[in-house]
Amino acid sequence: MTITLITGANKGIGFETARQLLALGHVVYIGARDVERGEKAAAALGARFVRLDVTDDASVSSALAAIESAEGRLDVLVNNAGVLGQGGTDGPTALRAFDTNAVGIVRVTEAALPLLRRSPNPTVVTVSSSAGSFWAVTNPARPEFSLPLALYSASKAAATMLTVQYAKSQPGIKFNAVEPGTTATDMTAAFGIGRTPEESARVVVRLATLDADGPTGTFQDENGEVPW
Ligand SMILES: NC(=O)c1ccc[n+]([C@@H]2O[C@H](COP(=O)([O-])OP(=O)(O)OC[C@H]3O[C@@H](n4cnc5c(N)ncnc54)[C@H](OP(=O)(O)O)[C@@H]3O)[C@@H](O)[C@H]2O)c1
Repeated sequence: MTITLITGANKGIGFETARQLLALGHVVYIGARDVERGEKAAAALGARFVRLDVTDDASVSSALAAIESAEGRLDVLVNNAGVLGQGGTDGPTALRAFDTNAVGIVRVTEAALPLLRRSPNPTVVTVSSSAGSFWAVTNPARPEFSLPLALYSASKAAATMLTVQYAKSQPGIKFNAVEPGTTATDMTAAFGIGRTPEESARVVVRLATLDADGPTGTFQDENGEVPW
């Protein structure tokens, strides 16, 4: 039995990742900051629910404590919760974007590490973004070049860097970052772009189901490694 926690899984790519991992036989915990949305999503999928707001230390601790007391370990963590961080380039907006997209990864990963260490094949997938790739945002041929989302890009660059640093400091645990592909979710609704969450979740699922000797410290999309 593989025990999996996905943050921000009440909708979008996280929800579809949960659906696909459940179909593969995982026990999936849907982490959601809102009880009603989270319970509804978990009931729709046959998953379990834990309240988890990645910006709140107490909620992260109690979510991981609940998984520890029910399962005793965690095999797969998917750091998926994220925000676009729109509303101006100012201190409060920047703090919110970084708190969710980068600091949230530290909170959840640190709380999960003791449980992951009890797994025979521990794996962490961070849903980052090619908008956080220096290569992509400086390459005029790439769509990220003209994306006016400075705070989102910067916080996703931090998310990818955290993945690399965790891979180095935790050699027994695989840490990989993923660019899921442009996806039609609430996050991108204002732009009217993207493919289905089902398609993008497949990329997340591939990295969440690596063998014990799979790669660590990589940043990948559906075609393989993405330049930093
Ligand atoms: N869509 C794309 O094209 C695209 C491309 C590259 C990367 N990504 C990344 O993919 C991930 C999923 O995004 P999505 O497109 O599926 O967007 P989405 O539909 O807006 O889903 C985002 C999820 O994150 C949750 N969330 C936000 N703040 C949270 C917090 N403080 N604590 C816990 N959960 C929180 C949301 O919960 P609520 O319902 O409570 O708000 C929601 O469940 C994000 O990390 C995003 O940056 C998306």
